[in-house]
Amino acid sequence: MSFDLNNNEYLNNKFTEKEINITADLLRKGLKDAWKINLKFERKFAEYMNCKYCLACSNGTAAMEEALWACGIKAGDEVIVPVMTYWASAFPALILGAKVKYADIDKKSLCISPKSIKEKITSKTKAIVVVHLYGHPCDMDAIMSLANKFGLKVIEDFSHAHGALYKGRLCGTIGDVGIASCMGEKAFYLPEGAVLCTNSKNIYEKSCLFGHYRYIGLRENSRVSSGIINKQTWQDYIGAPLGAIKDRMNPVSAIIGIERLNHFSADLFEINKAMDLFVRNLEKSGFYKAHRIRENNSSMGGWYSPVIFSKKDTHKVAAYIKRAGFNCKTGHRYFNLNEHPMNYNDYLRNNLNKFSNNSSYSLEKYTNADQTAKQIISIPRFTKFNKEIIEKYSQIYIEAAENTNV
Ligand SMILES: Cc1ncc(COP(=O)(O)O)c(C=O)c1O
Repeated sequence: MSFDLNNNEYLNNKFTEKEINITADLLRKGLKDAWKINLKFERKFAEYMNCKYCLACSNGTAAMEEALWACGIKAGDEVIVPVMTYWASAFPALILGAKVKYADIDKKSLCISPKSIKEKITSKTKAIVVVHLYGHPCDMDAIMSLANKFGLKVIEDFSHAHGALYKGRLCGTIGDVGIASCMGEKAFYLPEGAVLCTNSKNIYEKSCLFGHYRYIGLRENSRVSSGIINKQTWQDYIGAPLGAIKDRMNPVSAIIGIERLNHFSADLFEINKAMDLFVRNLEKSGFYKAHRIRENNSSMGGWYSPVIFSKKDTHKVAAYIKRAGFNCKTGHRYFNLNEHPMNYNDYLRNNLNKFSNNSSYSLEKYTNADQTAKQIISIPRFTKFNKEIIEKYSQIYIEAAENTNV
């Protein structure tokens, strides 16, 4: 079978014909009243998440800034963030003048470690950002219990964990507010976009005020006139965004999102069926240990950017897989944030330090983030189930380990 191992219909996020047609129809019709599409998407996404409010945002970075601001984060506060994540989980706190304190990760889940969070809490700590890394839910019971004890807000970044469950609850709905990027590689993918989900009216209203001014005006069907947000509380602010920024989702993304929600649960079912077979094959070989959770009604959602623990030398295993034609990577997807170029590149550091003085992180050690980077390699993320194809990839990964002697 001639087959591109890196680029094929079993691996890629593709837009359906229906999504493409709906987009074309919208563009033909024009975007005059298109903002109403966003409200419809928001209602439908909130229903899917089983939460009270959803806000459709331009991207995950913007949604994180809104969420932090709505949680009251300001200059002088400290926010605890996992050292292993994409920079956008952390740096929006700097723009608000807060200081970011990194916590190490847990070796098994690869998510923020509650023990490390506890060590980082000071009298200035106001919030914890948790990231359900590579689709694996964080230990939310332990995190929420720390947050309650110390009076901290919890912001869940569920960009990697759309549809993932923690003890029966969707990731993104357990803390005070959840945000998720929906950019084109994610499980719930749009041309670009993000969602902010919360059960708190106050957090929702403040997030609207930060970057969605056009919907908070008084005109017909706006969030105020239709009673979605409270006129009495917020009328002094109507007319301008308090964040001096516009964070609204593109209506093309919103209309695709509405359609995607019609089949997203079925998409996740298929991804899970495929990933389950693949990961079970690899575990059965004895050379790999899965990065996944299944017990207690918890799950990996859309398996974004999946990894596996290799018992053999990761570099050698990955080199073999690459020679076979599949682009396998070793280690974490991102820099440890304490080693991010912002710590040593003067231009970056000086720019970010204009908002909040953030130097000296590189001096700290994050043992679990460092150690696990040596143990994990990336695995394909199947978006479609095909037994024959999955067996083919399994064979390559197993052969790679068999041919590696350490
Ligand atoms: C964990 C995480 N948080 C936040 C973001 C930022 O989202 P966006 O790229 O939509 O701004 C990403 C983006 O990929 C991400 O992976």
